[in-house]
Amino acid sequence: MAKKDMDWANIGFGYVKTDKRYVSEYKGGKWDDGVITDDDTITLSECACVFQYAQTVFEGLKAYTTEDGRTVTFRPDLNAERMMDSAKRLEMPPFPKERFLDAVKKVVKANEDFVPPYGSGATLYIRPFMFGANPVIGVKPAEEYQFRIFTTPVGPYFKGGAKPITVRISDFDRAAPRGTGHIKAGLNYAMSLHAIVDAHNNGFAENIYLDPGTRTKIEETGGANIIFIDGDGNMVTPASDSILPSITRRSLMVVAEKYLGIKVTQRDVTLAEVESGAFKECGLCGTAAVISPVGCINDHGREIKFASGMEKMGPTLQKLYDTLTGIQMGRIEAPEGWIYEIK
Ligand SMILES: Cc1ncc(COP(=O)(O)O)c(C=O)c1O
Repeated sequence: MAKKDMDWANIGFGYVKTDKRYVSEYKGGKWDDGVITDDDTITLSECACVFQYAQTVFEGLKAYTTEDGRTVTFRPDLNAERMMDSAKRLEMPPFPKERFLDAVKKVVKANEDFVPPYGSGATLYIRPFMFGANPVIGVKPAEEYQFRIFTTPVGPYFKGGAKPITVRISDFDRAAPRGTGHIKAGLNYAMSLHAIVDAHNNGFAENIYLDPGTRTKIEETGGANIIFIDGDGNMVTPASDSILPSITRRSLMVVAEKYLGIKVTQRDVTLAEVESGAFKECGLCGTAAVISPVGCINDHGREIKFASGMEKMGPTLQKLYDTLTGIQMGRIEAPEGWIYEIK
């Protein structure tokens, strides 16, 4: 299939409509067989549960062109499982894992000419989502649902290299104790919009949220988990029930230990510990950014600067970045089961 004629290196991180999408509907207690369609629009009742009570969950993963020209996705089984967990928490019928994997394969295959070429820095972002579709006015879950996947090519997150960013400690909380912070529900992102606009208006790239119970521990940012490198070159990442279990972060923990011999600890990380200078490098990790280096954390005017500085990614995060992207792009052998080829 001929690739679309696009300026891959300059497409940015925005929505570009592709040719095909996947849709499956849940009615009468079961999912239908699902179809690939051209229609990018959805017609729903004004009273659909998703509009009234935000009953919607989603996922995000990418398709890559490898060095030897294959189209692959990275650990989509974990996205399938996380989406099932998200759905259960919002009383939605989970879309079965095997069906999810099949749908990802079909929709990427159908849009294969939008998968950016190897070396362009761009990838095909894959957005599975599902929502309550029938009218609901009393507060209760819907009885009918749609599961959909669309794709959109996205450009390199870092234009001109991975420049460190400055993030702030947020006064807003992202998640309640025993709430929904650990799932990928639209509601978690709706309430983060004010905080991110306010952060941008004040010159910060992102918000770091503290644990909502005590506001003393580091949790995550609005769209990424956080990793630290201590003075001995060990990786430390916060443990919490209210952060999203990032697939990138879980993969980096394996890459660090198994590929790079870096000791990894997942534990409480207090803001006081970060302020004491215990860590030399800090990065945000997720599907979109892979690893975005943090040069400075601003805590209400007090600056916590990392030794890696504001010019480039620190040496340990760079090794993690190179190894993970090497695995994703087929330059480095992947652990068993991490790479799903689209044939
Ligand atoms: C709140 C939040 N944390 C972390 C992540 C990173 O998760 P993943 O590595 O699975 O993309 C995301 C993005 O999906 C996110 O929205």
